[in-house]
Formats: sequence, C-alpha cells, structure tokens
Amino acid sequence: MATILTTINMKGGVGKTTLTVNLATCLAQKHQKRVLIVDLDSQISATLSVLAPHDFARLRRGRRTISYLIDKVIRPYIVRKFGTADMLLEKVCGIQGLDLLPGNIELYDEYTVAEVLYKKTQNTTEKTKFSESWQQFEQELITSILEPVRDRYDYILIDCAPGYNLLTRSAIVASDRYLIPARPEPLSLVGIQLLQQRIKKLKQQYNPPLSLDLLGIVFILSGGVLSGRYYNQVMQRIKQDFTPQEVFETSIPMDVNVAKAVDSFMPVVLNAPNSAGSKAFLKLTSEFLRKIDPKADLW
Ligand SMILES: Nc1ncnc2c1ncn2[C@@H]1O[C@H](COP(=O)(O)OP(=O)(O)OP(=O)(O)O)[C@@H](O)[C@H]1O
Ligand SMILES: [Mg+2]
Repeated sequence: MATILTTINMKGGVGKTTLTVNLATCLAQKHQKRVLIVDLDSQISATLSVLAPHDFARLRRGRRTISYLIDKVIRPYIVRKFGTADMLLEKVCGIQGLDLLPGNIELYDEYTVAEVLYKKTQNTTEKTKFSESWQQFEQELITSILEPVRDRYDYILIDCAPGYNLLTRSAIVASDRYLIPARPEPLSLVGIQLLQQRIKKLKQQYNPPLSLDLLGIVFILSGGVLSGRYYNQVMQRIKQDFTPQEVFETSIPMDVNVAKAVDSFMPVVLNAPNSAGSKAFLKLTSEFLRKIDPKADLW
C-alpha cells in the first residue's frame, strides 16, 4: 500500500514541482520503488517535466488526464467508461516503476462543484449543511481517485499548485505525510509557519483528526542573493524556529542544469546526472528513505 505524500507551499516558484519529479525519479530509478506522480496543478509543470507537449496534447484530446477523474467525483450521476487505472501513464522517461497521472490546464469548474453540492443539501430529508457537504467532498475527492491504484505503488507523490485551494486541501487530507520545499529567506520561514497553522486547523476539522504529519522542509538554496553573514543569520534562525527532525539535512543548490532540464522534458537527475543538482537530489532521496522508515536497510 503506497505512502501518499503531498508537496506543498503556498508560495509560488519555490521548487515544489522540481522536488516532486526528481525525488520520484530517484526513488524509481535508484531504489527500484514503484512511484506515481500526480499532477494537481493547472500549470501542468509536473506533467511537462516528464512528457513532451505533443504527447500531453494527445492525452488531453483523448480525455486521459486527471480532470476526467475529478469530474467523475463531482458528477457521479454521469456513466463513465474509465477509471483511475486507465489514466496512468506508465514508465515515463523510460524509467521502470515511474508512472504519471497527468494533469490538465482545466481541472474543475468551481461553479459546478458549488451547484452539485448545494443540490445535494437540498435533496436530503435531514438537510445537511452546505459546509458539511463541502467538507465531505474535500475529504473524498483525491482519496477516492487514488484508492483504486494505491496498492500498485510504494509512493504516490502529489504536486500541488501554489496557494491553498480545494485540490490542495483534498490532497492533504488524502496524504500520510507532506513535504515543504522552501527558500531559506525570512518571509519563506514565516510562510512555512502560517502553512503549518493552516494544516493543524484542517487536521482538527476532521473526526477523528487527520493523522498526517510533516516529513520535512527541503531548502532550495537561493544562490547569489543569500550569501556570507546574512545567509548565516538566516540559517541560525532556521535552527531556532524548527527542530532538526523538521528539516532535511540535504539542501538543493541552485544549478542551471536543473532549470535547463525542463527543455528536455526530463528531470535533471536523468538529463544531467553528474550535475551538482542531480547529486543533491540523489542524496536527498536516501535521506527521504531513512526519514520515512528509519529501520529500513538502504543497502
Ligand atoms: N535547484 C534549482 N536550480 C536552478 N533552478 C531551479 C532549481 N529548482 C527549481 N528551479 C527552477 O525554478 C523555477 C521554479 O521551480 P518549480 O517550478 O519547481 O517551482 P514551484 O514551486 O513548483 O512553482 P509553482 O508554484 O509555480 O508551481 C523553475 O524554472 C525551475 O526549473
Ligand atoms: Mg509547481
């Protein structure tokens, strides 16, 4: 049964997608794990990190993306031919064990969700409150999409959009652990604390409370701007604000190869395996496995 992890940060452009796809690739390629990447961002960055645009266009035309599955949960009264297993793209980038549930530029229509949920509250004899109906929907959405394929994988990694939208909350609810990629900058540190408060509140809204917890914060070094004494001050603050368990020892350096890899529709760990960025992702993956299961023998 897969461990489900969500990569989140309300801030945009901090390295969520890059972390998700490179970690997933290392787990499959170097550790022979069965891994599924789930793209929950309408920017489709995770999808285009492992797939060429024309391949994505073909999938989209054939309605083989996650929006089909989301719509299926929103409007269960429509008869459908396909389920989650039919949407999986196997062996992406030619890597055995690395699969993708492709994203889409249109994921769901908020108006339809609100309308369907409102109608539901009107039909029940004992009128369910709209907020309860919404919470139930949030609880079921991603969980019900992943449940049919969960036993095929060791890890399911969900890449979320920046912000804190319905899909992100639903992904958090479906997850066992979450990862926060962040830049070591003062405002980012405040952002992490705000996110932690929101997740704590979300966990308590459920009965019994959700049991997911933080696997760790991964720092993506900012390069250039943060250096010398100021960098040391920020690092000092990180040590004060977070416990060692909350922060990955391995951080990811700024490396142009990481950014360039996107052009090849392959994660940097495949495109430039000897680069500093790739080596850091490889080291991070070993640390990830030790954190997930401290008793496991990596060798
Ligand atoms: N270690 C790195 N070195 C150089 N460039 C990087 C590194 N990590 C990420 N990038 C680049 O920074 C940009 C933002 O990264 P990424 O898309 O992973 O962030 P994100 O948090 O997923 O963004 P969004 O919030 O828009 O989803 C991308 O162009 C990516 O290639
Ligand atoms: Mg992203």
